[in-house]
Amino acid sequence: MGVSGASGAPIALRVLQGLHAAHAPVALVVSNGAVAVLREECGLTPDALAAYATVTYADTDVGAPIASGSRPSRGMVVVPCSGNTAARIALGFADTLLTRAAQVHLKERRKLIVVPRETPLPTVLLRHLTALSELGVVVLDAAPPYYLHPKSVDDLTSYLAGKVLDQLGVPHELYRGWKSEDP
Ligand SMILES: Cc1cc2nc3c(=O)[nH]c(=O)nc-3n(C[C@H](O)[C@H](O)[C@H](O)COP(=O)(O)O)c2cc1C
Repeated sequence: MGVSGASGAPIALRVLQGLHAAHAPVALVVSNGAVAVLREECGLTPDALAAYATVTYADTDVGAPIASGSRPSRGMVVVPCSGNTAARIALGFADTLLTRAAQVHLKERRKLIVVPRETPLPTVLLRHLTALSELGVVVLDAAPPYYLHPKSVDDLTSYLAGKVLDQLGVPHELYRGWKSEDP
């Protein structure tokens, strides 16, 4: 899991908590940009995220195990995914561990999910997200589900984290789907 510097640090925390609750092994990389956003939005340092991960690597550690396709992975999520990081992944940059791990998932045809958050969406970012989508990446934008009547920002955070876990095939109880009481 990569955490970059878009707004949405609480979603990253909730995803990690969900993965931890499901006993899913997680290798975590936090970008430099994410450190400032995590402090601003959650009042936390990366250590608070690391508490829920199996292992954490520095973004500068491009020789870490997850930099190689020889290490198995069920998938990777970049949540939140900044425009900067989305562009770098789409263009093939691999000069940080986060972007290198993403390139590995692309070359190995493994599941890669990005959760961008920007509004309005700039044309350049739309182009990069389109390129990622064409490469098979799931672009899971941080859009609120008004039809599920979220009552709080916390509900919204749980919903978005749950959508990420859905993509990873990890069971959770973070949100109830549309008409979930129906068979
Ligand atoms: C409080 C705060 C909120 C930000 N929100 C966003 C955002 O929603 N989307 C985005 O693409 N960048 C956002 N940024 C800008 C990125 O953090 C910045 O471009 C950074 O260089 C991204 O670095 P990274 O991709 O290595 O994490 C935000 C920055 C700060 C400090």
